[in-house]
Amino acid sequence: MKIQKVGVVGCGLMGHGIVQIAAQGGCQVIALETEQSFLDKGLSRIDGSVKKLASKLVEKGKQSEEQAAAMVETTLANITGTTNRADLADCDLIVEAIVENLEAKTSLFAELGKLCKPETIFASNTSSFPIGEMAEASGRPSRFVGLHFFNPVQLMRLVEVVRTENTDEEVFNAARDFGTACGKTAVSCKDTPGFVVNRLLVPFMVQSLLMLERGDASREDIDAAMQLGCGHPMGPLTLTDYVGLDTTLYILQGWKERYPDEAAFEVPKILETMVAEGKLGRKSGEGFYKWDGDKKA
Ligand code: 3HC
Repeated sequence: MKIQKVGVVGCGLMGHGIVQIAAQGGCQVIALETEQSFLDKGLSRIDGSVKKLASKLVEKGKQSEEQAAAMVETTLANITGTTNRADLADCDLIVEAIVENLEAKTSLFAELGKLCKPETIFASNTSSFPIGEMAEASGRPSRFVGLHFFNPVQLMRLVEVVRTENTDEEVFNAARDFGTACGKTAVSCKDTPGFVVNRLLVPFMVQSLLMLERGDASREDIDAAMQLGCGHPMGPLTLTDYVGLDTTLYILQGWKERYPDEAAFEVPKILETMVAEGKLGRKSGEGFYKWDGDKKA
């Protein structure tokens, strides 16, 4: 089973990156958004990103100017945008990357389950919700996986491929091969909260916030400590800004509700307060730091 035609639902922070890497990997990709303006924004980010990656390849001597220009052209030609869900009906794979809200995801999959051809594989890029619940809602639990990419999708080299107890082996293998075709290393995991990365990463971010809240160290020192002491590319507070304070809060609130006895899923007060104040991190221009676009101000 080879995946050639891919639908991506949502062309925001994660979705636009997934559209891009699938197109770079040679798939025909349909990007679905609810409104034309969101679609235009996502497609313009892809345009900027693929050109940036191409110029880096030339700069590093990995490709000639002609090869890089051809890569840009082929990638962009592989992408079609739409605001009509029916256009996804004959995709081999659909990857969902909409807002982190379980109800929105289950109702989307229930509709896609009726709309798409029987062979279509469904995948969610959820950070924290059980894949099994979305799989049930889709009406085709054996053809459902998690495909969890990382931000920024174009640069991070991992994809987690999540299987439930109902996922067919050939569906899992096709999804893993798709991840590899997108240029990622695929790791396999079961349908557990946070899979591998977020189960380790989010509690780590929580501890850094609690440390700041207690006044154990300054934000700069907490970040410098983990960058220089452990070789992390970003300190945990910068990373929380980068991921989004709202996203981090939603993940934690969802886990706290489902697993109230798990001490690692504590919701720091500082996180709730800052989100209520609209300090969402990079996306709002301010979180623990001030941001100017993608860079710290
Ligand atoms: N497309 C193309 N190019 C991009 C890009 C994109 N989307 N994003 C950044 N770049 C470019 C930059 O413009 C820059 O180019 P330049 O050198 O010409 O200015 C180059 O890539 C490198 O970027 P930076 O200068 O910012 O340099 P870094 O070396 O710091 O790399 C990073 C950036 C890869 C983001 C690195 O800091 C990093 O790995 N950070 C950690 C990110 C991480 O942990 N992500 C996971 C988050 S958790 C998650 O996603 C799960 C979710 O479920 C919560």
